[in-house]
Amino acid sequence: MSNNFDVVIIGGGPGGYVAAIRAAQLGLKTACVEKRTTLGGTCLNVGCIPSKALLEISHKFHDAEHQFEKLGIKIDKPKVDVAKILNNKDEIIKGLTGGIAGLFKKNKVTSITGHATFLDKNTIEVENNGKKEKVTAKNFVIATGSEVASLPGLEIDEKTVVSSTGALELKSVPKKLIVIGAGVIGLEMASVWSRFGAEVEVIEYLDKITPAMDNEVSRNFQRILEKQGFKFRLSTKVLSVKKDKGGAKVEIESVKDAKKETLSADIVLVSVGRKPNTDKLGLDKAGVKTNERGFIENSHLKTNIDNIYVIGDVTTGPMLAHKAEDEGVAVAEIIAGQAGHVNYDVIPNVIYTHPEVASVGKTEEELKAAKIDYKVGKFTMMANSRARATFDDQGFVKILACAKTDKVLGAHIIAREAGNTIHEIVITMEFGGSSEDIARSCHAHPTYNEAVKEAAMAVEKRTIHS
Ligand code: FAD
Ligand code: NAI
Repeated sequence: MSNNFDVVIIGGGPGGYVAAIRAAQLGLKTACVEKRTTLGGTCLNVGCIPSKALLEISHKFHDAEHQFEKLGIKIDKPKVDVAKILNNKDEIIKGLTGGIAGLFKKNKVTSITGHATFLDKNTIEVENNGKKEKVTAKNFVIATGSEVASLPGLEIDEKTVVSSTGALELKSVPKKLIVIGAGVIGLEMASVWSRFGAEVEVIEYLDKITPAMDNEVSRNFQRILEKQGFKFRLSTKVLSVKKDKGGAKVEIESVKDAKKETLSADIVLVSVGRKPNTDKLGLDKAGVKTNERGFIENSHLKTNIDNIYVIGDVTTGPMLAHKAEDEGVAVAEIIAGQAGHVNYDVIPNVIYTHPEVASVGKTEEELKAAKIDYKVGKFTMMANSRARATFDDQGFVKILACAKTDKVLGAHIIAREAGNTIHEIVITMEFGGSSEDIARSCHAHPTYNEAVKEAAMAVEKRTIHS
């Protein structure tokens, strides 16, 4: 092994592989160590990409089963071939993870397969199938990501009691799926299996779904999912999950009145969050500290040790692939002596259900808590002609702008393709733009983004189409 790298990145997920490519572009002698046999991390192997592939296939199935006839297209009742669906998903993963390996070659990043452990602040040991080698570097970037968090006493076997990883691999459509946690993973994976025909019941400890979300959006989103057949039990605690013949029993208790009940399901999905991955990383040997929740904290992406940096899910901030990627670019630029920077105030968040839910910046509740005067501009998708023409007019766009300066402070969208639509607001916020800037920009017709323009116009109560 060629040693003495300028920078070695530990972890080949969206944080790590992006950091490696950018570092190599900047002329640094770079290696990336990944313990999986494929690159791309959680995102490409068991996260963003496989879940979006299944969401797409299940949406098409649902349309064929429930929409086509209404639109005047007659077909025989569609059937699900789970094996073929999973194979299609796996082919996408294979193509994309192989693509990262190609990018490493093109950019002259040394790819090392194996589990990395620090021996000291300039040396790691990489272990692969019993073979060990030492790798030294001037700088390290820890990009080891996150892993599923469970509940005390609950064993995830990835067959009956599954995490997102098992939920991406179910061999047949469950009759009844119980989801613990009404967060992003729970609602996306429940959408997949519900569209294929599973009965879905979601247990949430707090009194709202997707708790970090703007309250109005959360309420509307819940109603939309209920219309799709989801059953929610909010303010409900899971006491135990016990496997029984062919399924599991879930004992629950109401947080409000302590009433207990036992539910049955064929599959239980545990989606109560993820935790930082620092397993067998030898952080103590390098002197790197973690906080009380296990995250490695950073100051401008540097840990408490001068030559060791940290990015992505394993450090603080939202656990999102694009946040990890932006940190990957910034950390490489910082190591190369440039001014790498991430604007944490403008990181979009998207839930890829149908309709999609997207947000950026502050919620109304956050603005109220911070005592910031704001104006609200709202526009319903029912009045957006593209939404009407595509028979998909659920949801709305809501823009929050500063009452004094009109600067856009936040935006929340429920709509088909909200995850794409949000980006004009992201760019506006990045440039410190106002709602008037959006309102006076020409928007192509007919597009979903015209609803953003109208919501911006609604801030000054001058919408045209409502
Ligand atoms: P990871 O992607 O977790 O990569 C870390 C890598 O480090 C892993 O490959 C791991 O094997 C490797 N590693 C760990 N320890 C070592 C070691 N000691 N030595 C060598 N290698 C090591 N985010 C979005 O933005 N959009 C989405 O749509 C989305 N969907 C998701 C769906 C699911 C089901 C899940 C679980 C997550 C989803 N996420 C999504 C979150 C996203 O996957 C993560 O935020 C992102 O992958 C974090 O990137 P990362 O590089 O920090 O870590
Ligand atoms: P999450 O944090 O989004 O949601 C977890 C939910 O479980 C919360 O609503 C929480 O209140 C609830 N909960 C916690 N403990 C509970 C308990 N004991 N009983 C009942 N409910 C409980 O976590 P999730 O869904 O596991 O996702 C992890 C991370 O992965 C997300 O934070 C997100 O950053 C990332 N992700 C992003 C996606 C996207 O961008 N589209 C898709 C999937 C995951």
